[in-house]
Amino acid sequence: MSFATRYSSSVASVFPVHDIFWKSRCRLDLNKFHGNLIGGRRLHNNYSQKHYFCAKAEMVVQKYLPPLFSVAPMMEWTDHHYRTLARLVSKHAWLYTEMLAAETIVYQKDNLDKYLGFSPEQHPIVLQIGGSKLENIAKATALANPYGYDEINFNCGCPSPKVAGHGCFGVSLMLDPKFVAEAMTVIAANTDAPVSVKCRIGVDDRDSYNELCDFIYKVSSQSPTRHFIIHSRKALLNGISPAENRSIPPLKYEYFYGLLRDFPDLRFTINGGITGVDEANAALTAGAHGVMIGRAAYHNPWNVLGHVDTAIYGVPSSNITRRQIIEKYQVYGDSILWRDGRRPSVRDVVKPLLNFFHGEPGNTLWKRKADAAFHTCTTVKSFFEEALVPIPDFVLDKPLAELPPPGREELFANVPSLLPPPYESQLREEEEMMYA
Ligand SMILES: Cc1cc2nc3c(=O)[nH]c(=O)nc-3n(C[C@H](O)[C@H](O)[C@H](O)COP(=O)(O)O)c2cc1C
Repeated sequence: MSFATRYSSSVASVFPVHDIFWKSRCRLDLNKFHGNLIGGRRLHNNYSQKHYFCAKAEMVVQKYLPPLFSVAPMMEWTDHHYRTLARLVSKHAWLYTEMLAAETIVYQKDNLDKYLGFSPEQHPIVLQIGGSKLENIAKATALANPYGYDEINFNCGCPSPKVAGHGCFGVSLMLDPKFVAEAMTVIAANTDAPVSVKCRIGVDDRDSYNELCDFIYKVSSQSPTRHFIIHSRKALLNGISPAENRSIPPLKYEYFYGLLRDFPDLRFTINGGITGVDEANAALTAGAHGVMIGRAAYHNPWNVLGHVDTAIYGVPSSNITRRQIIEKYQVYGDSILWRDGRRPSVRDVVKPLLNFFHGEPGNTLWKRKADAAFHTCTTVKSFFEEALVPIPDFVLDKPLAELPPPGREELFANVPSLLPPPYESQLREEEEMMYA
């Protein structure tokens, strides 16, 4: 049974953000805030700002099922092609773009469709922006606004030396919460969508729970940010590779659940090391507002994404088969092939499908044939005719198994015994005394 059906008959009504926004904040007249919008998007009054941004989040939540499950932003992986495939497999998962540097958007302003365009089926979709210059972050957000993304996310978690080492970008920004708060304020002022931050639980030796809380506290109290995605391991900036930075620092889910306890007015999505919907449901049951999966959703899209709508959202199965998905994907692929002259190539378009038969008979031979077909095929249709031969019909025509592959349902079982002591913040106490 899905998390949603287990806890409520209505998915939207179980989502804590919905509760928070409706019950404690947003009994408001949306038109009033549209009025503010028309009169210039910058709302200087803190109180109005908070309510206006709540209204934005509320509008998005009503349009789609809430982000109980999302696919992580992954550079060179979650491109338009992958997201097209992901949406054919799951109707309700929230999809993140790859990170786009604010500078790229600004400097490519005459070529924006290439970087920011997406087909309407990809909603709900979140744009992730990275950057370290407020002016460019503001301009990039404004340029992205007409595209109608459902949320704008700011990257404070990328440890790549290309990113973190240059101008304090990515995870280095966790060391400068004041800047992150300014960036989030600027982003929120230039978009009609809600905003969020994706970060780690620390950087190098700045890795105590209290330091993480200080970051969350400063960013959330000095900007309209109400949603944080927490990759639950710290980043090491000592020269290990980005891939090692996704495996060497240990996962500390207890920090994530500590945040849920210590910041009950905020929304937190858990990320890192979760490999399927059973585990995602276990994280939600333990209290997470949302779950984000990265690598597993890329390496095994059929089995991970295929169960999201039923097992997480409680929606009846579409009973779609891999053959039907491939047929639809082929039409998409051939319609965009060579659009920019030499790109996208057949290889670019087909890449997300290479993992589509993970664990099935014929998988190894399919990959080998695919490799050969990339050299000869000039259409996606001819590629499939050649490379799909080793995949048996029963694999292509089998609808998803009723139950997802079993996962580690006990993944979060020991979290309660590991929870860090509650956040003690001088900052918070001082502020509370000021306003008492
Ligand atoms: C190839 C690759 C590229 C990534 N690119 C980004 C990125 O652009 N922005 C970001 O915030 N995280 C990026 N990440 C990190 C993921 O979003 C995610 O936080 C990380 O993989 C942990 O989640 P997982 O264990 O479910 O994979 C990337 C990860 C991978 C594997």
